[in-house]
Amino acid sequence: MKLAIASDHGGYRLKDQLVERLRGAGHEVEDLGGTAERCDYPAPASAVGRAVSAGRAERGVLVCGSGIGVSIAANKVPGVRAAVVGETTSARLFREHNDGNVLCLGERLIGPEMAWEIVQTFLATPHQGGQHAVRVAQIGDLEPPQKGISHV
Ligand code: RB5
Repeated sequence: MKLAIASDHGGYRLKDQLVERLRGAGHEVEDLGGTAERCDYPAPASAVGRAVSAGRAERGVLVCGSGIGVSIAANKVPGVRAAVVGETTSARLFREHNDGNVLCLGERLIGPEMAWEIVQTFLATPHQGGQHAVRVAQIGDLEPPQKGISHV
């Protein structure tokens, strides 16, 4: 799968581990950055959000200290459905019910093995559609109209 990933300074260690594991598992990963150098989380969140929103990546992964800052910022990008996930049941439901497309993780809150299981669940679980798709479309209706896209 084509993926975009990034972090701030609070999440770069986990982000680097995930890049390696994802590439090892055969995914095409665009690493949009994140090092020990101070980086304010809206920047990586916007980079990954835009990659997903533009269709350059099918899904995105963001890591910061808690996962919260990147999720709040990524959700400002039209078309992004981001959430912080800390265990695998939520990762499954995030896909099945919410058609989540940007997974956010907190490096300071979860270990690397839990993070990897969450990422694998996020990538492997399909959206259930049906009544859930109706609600996901209603989320889209909350977004301000974009230039060139007509909202009836
Ligand atoms: C950075 O110190 C930290 O605030 C950030 O990684 C994140 O946890 C914010 O939500």
